[in-house]
Amino acid sequence: MCHIFVNIVPFGLCFFSECFGITITSAITQKNIKYLQSLGYDFIFGNEGKLACGDYGLGRMSEPDDIINYLDILFHKTKPLDGIEALVTAGPTQEPIDPVRFISNKSSGIQGYLIAEELVKNGANVSLISGPTNLSTPSNLSNFIKVETAEEMLKVFLKKIPKDLFISVAAVTDWKINYNKHKMKKEEGTPKLKLIDNPDILKSISFHKKRPKLVVGFAAETKHLTQNAIKKIKQKKCDFIIANNVSKSKEVFGGNMNEVAIINTKGIILKLKKMDKKKLAKKIVKEVIVPSLN
Ligand code: C5P
Repeated sequence: MCHIFVNIVPFGLCFFSECFGITITSAITQKNIKYLQSLGYDFIFGNEGKLACGDYGLGRMSEPDDIINYLDILFHKTKPLDGIEALVTAGPTQEPIDPVRFISNKSSGIQGYLIAEELVKNGANVSLISGPTNLSTPSNLSNFIKVETAEEMLKVFLKKIPKDLFISVAAVTDWKINYNKHKMKKEEGTPKLKLIDNPDILKSISFHKKRPKLVVGFAAETKHLTQNAIKKIKQKKCDFIIANNVSKSKEVFGGNMNEVAIINTKGIILKLKKMDKKKLAKKIVKEVIVPSLN
């Protein structure tokens, strides 16, 4: 028999989450449980299934998530972002050249999707606007909208504000190209493509009269990371810039690791060590978003 003993001192409560094995059904265990319950101890009983001893029956320890949920419900725990309306953009945008070609970038969408997921876990109502990615949709989003181009992203966005929070993780393609209705032919010679500026979504939203309370941008840089981020926070009028180094050696675009510096309007820099994108999403939500919205 093995116990996980949870003693929640400030509340004066004690829990046993039990992994009894088959002994749970024995008379002596049942008697002991009743005795502990009579003293005010609580039990989070486990599930039926294959037991460590090889038997099948009651006595498996509850899954850790079930234990947490039990405690959450018991304490009617509110989450730090309950009621917050959040908009997140993620992934690249693709700007078509003709019906079969486009320009884009190497963004995978991983970081944005993980941030959206983490916001949901913290109680926010999250709308995720995503460029083309190969990722599966995070669960429990309020809205998930897939777009291709920067203009589509901005259009969707303008329908969704005002919100409390905007996190601009998308690597919006800075330029589009005059669209050719018909596939360009090699035989017609090397085409001269003219780049046209795309709307800057982050900047448009930051300067918008319905600007969300908190606006966070990302800045993918290959050099002068912090200087560029400080410049960007002023230009784009956002509250935080999370600057990541996307030089080839860092394997940030498309990879699972990220290394960032976080800059606020006072130029204060928090340099974080390289960590996986999930951990970083948790850190950003816990240390930047939650304190700024409370
Ligand atoms: O200017 P730069 O592309 O480096 O800015 C990065 C930030 O701006 C990111 O948060 C990105 O999502 C956002 N951005 C945007 N629209 C653009 C270009 C960038 O929203 N056209």
